[in-house]
Amino acid sequence: MVKYITLQETLPLRSKVLRNGLKLEQCIFPTDDSEGIFHLGFFSGEEITSIATFFWEDYPEQAVEGVRLRGMATHPDHAGKGQGAAIINFAVNELSSQNASYMWCNARKIAIGFYEKLGFSIISAEFDIPGIGPHVNMIKHLS
Ligand SMILES: CC(C)(COP(=O)(O)OP(=O)(O)OC[C@H]1O[C@@H](n2cnc3c(N)ncnc32)[C@H](O)[C@@H]1OP(=O)(O)O)[C@@H](O)C(=O)NCCC(=O)NCCS
Repeated sequence: MVKYITLQETLPLRSKVLRNGLKLEQCIFPTDDSEGIFHLGFFSGEEITSIATFFWEDYPEQAVEGVRLRGMATHPDHAGKGQGAAIINFAVNELSSQNASYMWCNARKIAIGFYEKLGFSIISAEFDIPGIGPHVNMIKHLS
């Protein structure tokens, strides 16, 4: 089940899945105080096993009313069960009702297939984020 969670609740999975066990306080993104930010978690019983964060930020070459997705991560023991997809779909419903026109992200190259399954398309050349690896920008238009 997908629910709203706090920033603090995202940190253990961010650390484990996205930051190689970095201290929790170092897993806070500079964008975590952005306008309209919200965090979603997929609950497997009491445990949060998939997370993502959404906030208003336009992509430079796109229209206004864009939302950026960051910190998408599913616990490896729960990968492939549709939890990440459930979070994106929950956010799409929520953001469509707030009249967002698109969602975009820096997608790790290894996750491109996941985003494509959810209707995102690649909109940039490949670029490197030091310490993390190759990425592309991807976008999903919302109706
Ligand atoms: C990428 C990630 C978020 C996917 O989460 P998940 O909960 O396992 O994904 P889901 O089970 O909801 O997958 C939805 C669909 O995408 C597919 N998919 C998932 N990960 C994929 C990948 N890396 N490449 C290709 N397809 C993928 C699934 O097979 C599924 O397809 P289906 O609808 O045909 O069954 C997760 O694997 C993860 O946390 N990876 C490590 C961190 C990471 O790369 N995060 C993204 C940062 S940009």
